[in-house]
Amino acid sequence: MKILVTGGLGYIGSHTVVELLNIGHEVVVIDNLSNSKPKVKDIVEDITGRKFDFYECDIRDREGLDKVLDAHKVDCCIHFAGLKAVGESVREPLKYYENNIAGTVNLLKALSAHNCKNIIFSSSATVYGDPAEIPITEECPKGQCTNPYGWSKSMLEQILSDTRNADKEWNVVLLRYFNPIGAHPSGRMGEDPNGIPNNLMPYITQVAIGKREKLGVFGNDYDTPDGTGVRDYIHVVDLAKGHIKALDAISKNCGLEVYNLGTGRGYSVLEVVQNFEKASGVKIPYEIMPRRAGDIATCYSDPAKAEEKLGWKAEFGIFEMCRDSWNWQSKNPNGYE
Ligand code: NAD
Ligand code: UD1
Repeated sequence: MKILVTGGLGYIGSHTVVELLNIGHEVVVIDNLSNSKPKVKDIVEDITGRKFDFYECDIRDREGLDKVLDAHKVDCCIHFAGLKAVGESVREPLKYYENNIAGTVNLLKALSAHNCKNIIFSSSATVYGDPAEIPITEECPKGQCTNPYGWSKSMLEQILSDTRNADKEWNVVLLRYFNPIGAHPSGRMGEDPNGIPNNLMPYITQVAIGKREKLGVFGNDYDTPDGTGVRDYIHVVDLAKGHIKALDAISKNCGLEVYNLGTGRGYSVLEVVQNFEKASGVKIPYEIMPRRAGDIATCYSDPAKAEEKLGWKAEFGIFEMCRDSWNWQSKNPNGYE
């Protein structure tokens, strides 16, 4: 198949492009490079030994999208492009709604005009808000998001569902990611956040490499076994493979489907620190800090539906996630710079 990957030079997108190329799909990537580097294309091509087409294009640019879609008859779109910094979304909500929502609406119109009505969308466990049940199944009601980033995902799920309900030619797979970490086992691709990392694993790896003095642990008075927040971390390569399975579902005209992509196992902040120390051999100094606004105590998935219906199951455990995050960071202390 020929797949359009938006945001395909970013963290999850690039790992997914590797998996797509590895099994012989043709890939066309568009990315506006707002949070990625052009050299990722060369690295992906080097790792896979295959080429793909890349266009520096913004999903809000209809003319640009039309040019790409005129040049390539694509069978499906895997849509990663979006802004994802939670704190920034609180300060600049319109930037997020414009980029993520207006951008996606524009993309859907362009795809439809070119008769490509198949899309896999990067959603997030954040749509469950403070989850009504643990482990979280897809049946769990969506909740109140605590920030505009989260709302953009929740609203886009609605927009995509309405699009499919109005036109049954669409196949839409909503993938709700839990907490992606890890990196390609080659150590050549990984997460490369700008500035001070917001998320746990990139913060830990920057402490390990000596860029930051110590980790701040946001709260140790949650109702969890050791008081720190519990999350369902998932290796980015497992996550990438989930998209391949979603593509199989799309090619069988699945209609509208929603899947959690997680491991089903939660780890606390302190457990992640311990596992990272074991995998890297590096000690991570930390300090207990106040809770971070908007955080919840516990979030982990019930991934049974993806296993049953897509035949997908995460293979890597927390050790491999920590090992590969460290392998990437230690080989590339300044990320892709
Ligand atoms: P990322 O920032 O590394 O990748 C997103 C890519 O999209 C970047 O390369 C960026 O340059 C590009 N982009 C952004 N706006 C664009 C636009 N208007 N036009 C074209 N390209 C644009 O992020 P990621 O971690 O790879 O996340 C990919 C997707 O998965 C995002 O939609 C994100 O919200 C979602 N997601 C991520 C996580 C996570 O923890 N990383 C969790 C749940 C969901
Ligand atoms: C965050 C976002 C969520 C987004 C997800 C993936 C918030 C409130 N939520 O989720 O919308 O989908 O990232 O991008 O920002 N922690 C520390 N110290 C740190 C960083 C994190 O103790 O320096 C703790 C957090 O309190 C949490 C856990 O580590 O308990 C994981 O945090 P993080 O990696 O930011 O992910 P989420 O909070 O799950």
